[in-house]
Amino acid sequence: MNIIQLIEKKRDKNPLTAEEISFFVQSVCDETIPDYQISALLMAICINGMTDEETALLTNAMAKSGDTIDLSYIDGIKVDKHSSGGVGDKVTLAVAPMAAACGLPTAKMSGRGLGFSGGTIDKLESIPGFRTSLTEEEFVTFIKRDGIALMGQTKNVAPADKKLYALRDVTGTVPSIPLIAASIMSKKLACGSDAIVLDVKCGSGAFMKTPEEAIKLARSMESIGRQNGRRVTALITNMDQPLGNAVGNALEVREAIETLKGNGPSDFTELCLTIGSFMLVSGEKANDLPQARKMLETSIQNGSALNKFKQFISNQGGDPSVADDPSLLPNANTVRILRSPCSQLISGIDGEKVGNAALTVKAGRLVKTDIIDHSCGFILLAKAGEKVEKGQPIAEIHASDEASAKQAEEQLLSAYTFGDNFEEKPMLLAYVDREGIHYDKNNDR
Ligand code: URA
Repeated sequence: MNIIQLIEKKRDKNPLTAEEISFFVQSVCDETIPDYQISALLMAICINGMTDEETALLTNAMAKSGDTIDLSYIDGIKVDKHSSGGVGDKVTLAVAPMAAACGLPTAKMSGRGLGFSGGTIDKLESIPGFRTSLTEEEFVTFIKRDGIALMGQTKNVAPADKKLYALRDVTGTVPSIPLIAASIMSKKLACGSDAIVLDVKCGSGAFMKTPEEAIKLARSMESIGRQNGRRVTALITNMDQPLGNAVGNALEVREAIETLKGNGPSDFTELCLTIGSFMLVSGEKANDLPQARKMLETSIQNGSALNKFKQFISNQGGDPSVADDPSLLPNANTVRILRSPCSQLISGIDGEKVGNAALTVKAGRLVKTDIIDHSCGFILLAKAGEKVEKGQPIAEIHASDEASAKQAEEQLLSAYTFGDNFEEKPMLLAYVDREGIHYDKNNDR
């Protein structure tokens, strides 16, 4: 077997066998085939696709290319969650303590962000003292004792994905459903959970721009999970504008805390309740989605979710009093107000543009070595669908200096569109599980 035969086979639209796929992944890891041949095969896959079976085999080989994490020491069904990412997506910060307060052990490994605003790890590191590098012993102790821990990915998880993703990034082969699905799911399979709730974002601020594309990706990831013995539920959620009001690390932590107190923005709260409900059902802590939602709402009302958050922060060296006094989080040197240029309806807020403006105030990284300023970012005071008056404040720009605040102001304004129409969409557009696709969010399972 050699790589040229594989490239030719895929070029001619023929499926690759299990042996061929594992030979490819092994050779990528051993660096025995050059980048140009790997890239040629990636392009052939990008153009001609892969069957569900090929995609599951590729994912499995990628998942096994590095360390796999054993969570069997935690009793019960372990549920992971993952989002395809979006501006203002701080769901893990709120949903992890909510789910843990409802009895679901939440053992999560998360990454840092690249581009737009930071990842979950960056957000949590804005809490004074908080440690995301835990020993395995600490991780286990916290989960067994308190049902919650979150750490940065220290192990060598799915190294084949790292290599393939780096090449895809520079060869125009990122937008391929089988390659995206295999990339995401290889890391999820390696992290050892029994069930996975995926949030596939759909809309202008997301990777998948249309529901059709998002459903295809969701189906592919569910199929990979099923063929590898995992229970996957993939939600397709609306992402036509940034999620919630806060964009930027400490500002997002503050918003998550407010949400745990019952004062969160309605879109963000709704998404947390939705994802949390699917997590509780997948982990068999609730019989159906309505019961799960009630449990999560109760965890907010009775303060148990907020207490779980404090316990989690304190376990990992952070100052839990930020939950009572969020002004203890880093505060930006300067806050500039963006005002509406007209009296009209906000018809849209482009997530990508908001994300790029966030880079200007250093709320995210352009390259891995960039240093994030945790205090910076935006508070969107008015969202799409709201009518505003000329001169009305529509956003706060939190920055380290006036110059970057001014630069971000122009970029942020360009993200807003004003007009006569705004189509309100439900947060949950559909979900895919082993039974197929469901469009009714109240569908009891
Ligand atoms: N996220 C990933 O981890 N991989 C992709 O290919 C796309 C998004």
